[in-house]
Amino acid sequence: MKIILGVGGGIAAYKSAELARLLMQQGHQVQAVMTEAAQRFVTPMTFAALTGRKVLTDLFAIENAIDHIGTAQENDLLVVAPATADVLAKLAHGLAGDFLSTLYLAFTGPVLLAPAMNVNMWQHPATRENVETLKRRGNRVIEPGSGYLACGMTGPGRMAEPEEIADAIEREARQHRDLEGETVLVTAGPTQEPLDPVRYISNRSSGKMGYALAEAAAARGARVVLISGPVHLAAPHGVEVIGVRTAVEMRERVFENLEPASIVIKAAAVGDFHLSKVPDQKRKKTAARLSLELDPTPDILAELGRKKGDRLLVGFAAETENLRQEARRKLESKNCDMVVGNLVGGADVGFESDENEVVLALSTGETLALERASKREIADRIFDEILKLRLSLHATHEA
Ligand code: PMT
Repeated sequence: MKIILGVGGGIAAYKSAELARLLMQQGHQVQAVMTEAAQRFVTPMTFAALTGRKVLTDLFAIENAIDHIGTAQENDLLVVAPATADVLAKLAHGLAGDFLSTLYLAFTGPVLLAPAMNVNMWQHPATRENVETLKRRGNRVIEPGSGYLACGMTGPGRMAEPEEIADAIEREARQHRDLEGETVLVTAGPTQEPLDPVRYISNRSSGKMGYALAEAAAARGARVVLISGPVHLAAPHGVEVIGVRTAVEMRERVFENLEPASIVIKAAAVGDFHLSKVPDQKRKKTAARLSLELDPTPDILAELGRKKGDRLLVGFAAETENLRQEARRKLESKNCDMVVGNLVGGADVGFESDENEVVLALSTGETLALERASKREIADRIFDEILKLRLSLHATHEA
């Protein structure tokens, strides 16, 4: 794999030299990029000698005129180690005043960050917010270890060891573009079912889980079509987003875009009931009580289950109790290959939050639990399991 190793200005820069050595030993091509501050701790000569390549340091050197664009396009992975408080802040806020931060903006592949700094700097709300922003964007953070720091304090802030960072890179390399050539269709967000021109019934889905799945699939090389209910999220990089409002519209767009899809994931929280005939005018408050007769919306997942062909079909189950049983029941009743069950109703996982904790009911009969993690990490774990499941289904089919 072609890796950019961004080195920030911290004492841990010396550990990055060891990381560069390990990555070269593992057969990767490494392009080092150093900030000005990094060069005060370790010289570019060290990285040039270890990687066999000129180190990129100066955005304004004539010979580097547009190198940040070329370097971004030619490489598969960007690792920043150490990611200092200053580097994290620049990346989180999209500043582009030096080679590394400009390269980060031009780079469209996966990003791994290995922070290193003093414990108070790591725990400062400014750094916490920057780290959260970067995680939400899909950047992976290799959490710093806890222990004695160069500043004399003890606590979290010590950069992960080079071996641990190299392991994370190996995991990334295994996933690298393993969905190339596939089309993944994802649905996300809530639906809004109108009651009149100004009122509607909806639910708490923010779309974060579905958008994380779309982003993960795109980062792994898939063409991704994301059919999204109304949410306040930016379109993930490289993903085709089709906006819908109601369950009926979602059904239409899903079946219009189904043909090329090899994997379909229904993470949307589709409204179960709607008014079949919506009045043209706003309802007047004339009576003390309003009764509405609602009809069921089309069950898109069940219809997909009947028409899925060779596609791998993944449903979600949002439950407030009996998660495992409900996930398995939906898997069977809707003819899915996998149902991802998540508990909703609490405040910190499921709806709206940045994290989730799920069980996967598989058509092989197994049920797996995925520990609490960011929705982006859960999304990658789901794709890991989808790919394993597909292999095992093919093997069973051929036996
Ligand atoms: O969006 P977030 O805030 O990140 O929250 C994520 C989430 C909790 C919404 C998500 O992880 C999730 O669980 N989505 C499914 C929610 C849901 O509608 O669950 P359900 O048990 O009601 O539906 C089961 C499955 O049938 C789902 O795949 C759903 O998309 C599908 N369905 C439901 C009704 C319907 N009319 N058509 C459908 O296709």
